[in-house]
Amino acid sequence: RQQEKEQIVGGHEFAAKLYHYILNNSAEGKPALDYLRSRGFTDSLIETFQIGFAPPHWDTLVQYFVKREFSLPLMEKGALIAAKSSGGYVDKFRNRIMFPIRDARGSVIAFAGRTLGNEQPKYLNSPETALFRKSRVLYNMHAARAEVKRTNQIVVFEGYADVIKAWSAGVHNSVATMGTALTEEHALLMRRSAERIVLCYDGDDAGQSAAYKNLGLLEKAGLDIKIAMLPNKLDADDYVETFGADRFRKEIIEGAVPTEKFRLLHLRRNFNMQDNEAKLRYVRTAIREVIAGIESPTGREHYLKELSSEFSAISSFETMKQETNEIREQEQKKRRNGDNNEFSWNTVRN
Ligand code: CTP
Ligand code: MN
Ligand code: MN
Ligand code: MN
Ligand code: MN
Repeated sequence: RQQEKEQIVGGHEFAAKLYHYILNNSAEGKPALDYLRSRGFTDSLIETFQIGFAPPHWDTLVQYFVKREFSLPLMEKGALIAAKSSGGYVDKFRNRIMFPIRDARGSVIAFAGRTLGNEQPKYLNSPETALFRKSRVLYNMHAARAEVKRTNQIVVFEGYADVIKAWSAGVHNSVATMGTALTEEHALLMRRSAERIVLCYDGDDAGQSAAYKNLGLLEKAGLDIKIAMLPNKLDADDYVETFGADRFRKEIIEGAVPTEKFRLLHLRRNFNMQDNEAKLRYVRTAIREVIAGIESPTGREHYLKELSSEFSAISSFETMKQETNEIREQEQKKRRNGDNNEFSWNTVRN
């Protein structure tokens, strides 16, 4: 079994080298190379992340595997190739830009293949195999490790391009969850390497809602969390391309905000702030969902002051504080009565 795994890793390492070579050195790879360059992927980034290209033919990899005497059934088990019902094998990845995915030790265990255009799916990932469980792998963790140790911090993005552009901007302690499905296993994995994280998901609704939803999980793992907020519609990759590396580092990464502030800002999306009734509902929701849940009295006071100075036309600091305390008492009573649900303010409501 162990030997099988080693052979499957061997197949992945070989495929990564081959795809990378084809991207850099063949006429077939040229459109992919042009596409990558047009998106700001420099030769040095292509090298560092061993980006490649899988040509459009049915059996490029299969033929190399035959020539090099790799076991085809094992390569199928590793999902690099697929068996045809008519016999024989075909490549799993065709006509896609290839991002090798490595495990914590740096071995290639999977791939993500991106289309050059708008075909769906945009990314084709290796399926779950004996080597690859998406819920347990953080893209780039291997390369990020040294900087993660040094800074005691991990910057978490959604995607491959985000990690790679962050790298180019000098942010080397970065990983990706490869989508917005951050798992408990991911959180524990992070906690083993660092105490602090900066969560930098895409600025669109999907990314921001996922960030909000993931906070509870990260907090439960005991991580100290900040949120790097991107302008609507942009992700980290877009931001670096649009505003440059310096602004990305200084304004987005170093400007990451505490979770309380992020939660308060995020909740606003649900209310029309031009409308007084809606403002009132926002204030009450903010108190219930965010402020009442802050453990430190100083923390509660701080955010209550902010809220009451912005919404002084609606309610005073004293009244807001009273409401906060009443909610806390209710919650404490619920807890004493054996209601062992999590506090409502920690419950995801999106
Ligand atoms: N993803 C995936 N399969 C898809 C779409 C997305 O696995 N069909 C994962 C990928 O890891 C992707 C991440 O989710 O990197 C974030 O998705 P998205 O924001 O849509 O893609 P980007 O990373 O921004 O891709 P690009 O910049 O190349 O367009
Ligand atoms: Mn190279
Ligand atoms: Mn996204
Ligand atoms: Mn994105
Ligand atoms: Mn992107």
